[in-house]
Amino acid sequence: MNDAIRPQPGILDIALYEGGAAHVAGLTDAIKLSSNENPFGPSDRAREAFSRAVHFLHRYPNTDHRGLRTAIGEVHGLDPDRIICGAGSDEIIHFLCQAYAGPGDEVLFTEHGFLMYRISAMAAGATPVAVRERERTTDVDALLAGTTERTKLVFVANPNNPTGTMIGLSELERLANGLPPQAILVIDGAYAEYVEDYDGGADLATRLPNVVMTRTFSKIYGLGGLRIGWGYGPRAIIDVLNRIRGPFNLSTAQLETAEAAVRDRDHIDRCRTENARMRAWLAEALAEKGVPSDTSTANFILARFADEAEAAACDAALRAEGLIVRQVKGYGLPHCLRITVGDEPSCRRVAHVIGQFKARL
Ligand SMILES: Cc1ncc(COP(=O)(O)O)c(C=O)c1O
Repeated sequence: MNDAIRPQPGILDIALYEGGAAHVAGLTDAIKLSSNENPFGPSDRAREAFSRAVHFLHRYPNTDHRGLRTAIGEVHGLDPDRIICGAGSDEIIHFLCQAYAGPGDEVLFTEHGFLMYRISAMAAGATPVAVRERERTTDVDALLAGTTERTKLVFVANPNNPTGTMIGLSELERLANGLPPQAILVIDGAYAEYVEDYDGGADLATRLPNVVMTRTFSKIYGLGGLRIGWGYGPRAIIDVLNRIRGPFNLSTAQLETAEAAVRDRDHIDRCRTENARMRAWLAEALAEKGVPSDTSTANFILARFADEAEAAACDAALRAEGLIVRQVKGYGLPHCLRITVGDEPSCRRVAHVIGQFKARL
């Protein structure tokens, strides 16, 4: 080993991100409820667009993503010139940290916030700062109190993963308006489409000079495997992010599929309705069996158990029945399991197995 070859300071302190498990040894028909994926997958129109893209595999994709940005702009009523597309919203988060935070700077996020905020902050050499929540919910006063003259970015996922809770737009606006002048508020709307009558922070990012919104095609659009996300914000910030974006960061298949997906509103409406129906059913079924959860606004439920041992035992019981959910120890919630809202048979199986588990205690 050559000791002279060293990564940038802080890189070796990054804990590797672990994705949700996808398999149970010895089972071929396990149900994956560990990554907040849409059980119905993408719309037929998106699938067709992906198939058509096979004819263009030898061609470089376009670099400006105009078609996709125009489609997103039309659907959401946004200026396409203020949109940037990336390989998942992860990439947009990464661009933001790379462009705006460095050694000596602080990147804030909430206590049980999405793990990539910490990872991207550390990758940029910045200091990650976790700020306490109130009852597993973003606390604007605590975030405001946590800012300093070194704060460059404040990430709030709304709804938040893995808690499933969210705060109102007026609270987000209060946060944006209370930040020190050099800080950007990033409203992460990965689960925004699951919330009825919620724009994900689009209006705030239109009006305020220090707000960026990120969105993804990985959740309700059912395209997690394809890696497409986008960001929207003040033109000056989007311009900065485009300077560090690789010109070919999205393939033609990604661009064409996402464009077809965003235009198919019926599919999104159906998925939102079905998710809300099964989420309510699952939360109530688990509560009846003695497993509480906060009211979720996303496509998963954070089920709470007596302690870490009980959560781990329940996870094992679910796995034994081919049901893969997520332990969230890494998020500071060792006594919880995050369960993606699957289709109706999956939800019924989860509730049944957890019921049996609780009855054995
Ligand atoms: C809150 C939140 N933000 C962002 C992402 C990243 O999504 P993607 O990179 O697939 O767009 C996720 C994925 O789980 C998430 O939960």
